Amino acid sequence: MDGVTVINHPLVQHKLTIMRKKETSTAGFRRLLREISTLLCYEVTRDLELTMETIETPMQTIQAPVLEGKKLVFASILRAGNGLLEGMLELVPSARVSHVGVYRDHETLEAVEYYFKAPESLSERLVIVVDPMLATGNSSIAAIDKLKERGATKLRFLCLLAAPEGIRNFQAAHPDVPIYTASIDSHLNEHGYIVPGLGDAGDRMYGTK
Ligand code: URA
Repeated sequence: MDGVTVINHPLVQHKLTIMRKKETSTAGFRRLLREISTLLCYEVTRDLELTMETIETPMQTIQAPVLEGKKLVFASILRAGNGLLEGMLELVPSARVSHVGVYRDHETLEAVEYYFKAPESLSERLVIVVDPMLATGNSSIAAIDKLKERGATKLRFLCLLAAPEGIRNFQAAHPDVPIYTASIDSHLNEHGYIVPGLGDAGDRMYGTK
């Protein structure tokens, strides 16, 4: 599928299978999410640009590669996106973090922003937006709208599972934002859940149901 990278590394796929199992505990789910997010982060940053810097090793002076440009931003879509942050920040500790909270107004069906915090100069940074589930796509579309309104121009979207319906909606709204996912599942059910999926990601990571 154009614009979608499926991260099919065996470790990612193995951990994802355990996360899907309904008997996996809250603690186990959270630990796996942290582990898998590190691996997903490795893949979503695989092609970042490098620049050469002069350094001195104990043996000699050399030109060595370092990441180019301003620090990355990881933008978490509340609340489930937070589950991906910890592992990603372990891999890129210098990254900046943005939190975006949006909900859908039942009457107007408009996305309403209830929380937004982001670092300065979004326009000069690569923003990696994270949410474990790309279901209808409504919240990720709205969150990216809000980030673009604040100046973000270079974005990627990272999730664990995506539904084909969500991918279609997302790409119609934000064709410039590549999607990275560990799996494209079968479909959405009538309640907007991904099938076969893993249930409600927020509830499973926080034990709220
Ligand atoms: N959000 C979830 O947490 N799970 C789904 O299956 C769909 C949306």
